[in-house]
Amino acid sequence: MPAIPGLLIAPSILAADFGRLTEEVRDVDAAGADWIHLDVMDGHFVPNISFGPDIVKAVRAVTAKPLDVHLMIAPADPYLAAFAEAGADVITVHAEAGPHLHRSLQVIRALGKRAGMAINPGTSETAVEPVLDLVDLVLVMTVNPGFGGQAFIEGTLEKVRRIRAMTAGREILIEVDGGITAETASLATRAGADVLVAGSAVFRGGPGSYSRAIEAIRGAADPAAGRWV
Ligand code: DX5
Ligand code: ZN
Repeated sequence: MPAIPGLLIAPSILAADFGRLTEEVRDVDAAGADWIHLDVMDGHFVPNISFGPDIVKAVRAVTAKPLDVHLMIAPADPYLAAFAEAGADVITVHAEAGPHLHRSLQVIRALGKRAGMAINPGTSETAVEPVLDLVDLVLVMTVNPGFGGQAFIEGTLEKVRRIRAMTAGREILIEVDGGITAETASLATRAGADVLVAGSAVFRGGPGSYSRAIEAIRGAADPAAGRWV
């Protein structure tokens, strides 16, 4: 895989206006989003419910940008094929969501998708080490999953640094998710993040402000951030 010119910004549609979802996706695409991040929540693994594969499919129909599907569901395995068929490019499962992370990652790769694993703020980066050969992306939660608009947990930065060291020389992206603003984007990219998920910080100002919001995050990031696509 080729080196990438810089970091990737992935607006999370959890913060979009669901009543105008396809227009919102077109708008952030045109505003410079690199990926579109889709948060799938089941009301069981996390205390909130969002949407499923049909919404992924509807988003797929209106953008050519990679779809970054973050599954906050347990179990995840019965639904992996449905999200692949719906048009996901990256499918991320939580290390905490079940006993068979290794199998889930194998299944995602077998479906021809990039395999991501996510770890909650309370989970050690040591969970990554046994599956280094099976992951294309490690998502470090920088808030507790379930809701947008929460404050960034600075204590997670040390994990980003350790995962950066652990993945050196490998084509593995490090993604941070939760509480990303221009200020925290600077901290996270200096710690080693390649992909920044941002919900509230992108959508807060409504249509017309998305390009400015994305560029504010990009402009604050470490210019050396971003390694692979
Ligand atoms: C939280 C989700 C995030 C969320 C981020 O569980 O995984 O992707 O949308 O929202 P902000 O950027 O508002 O913290
Ligand atoms: Zn997310």
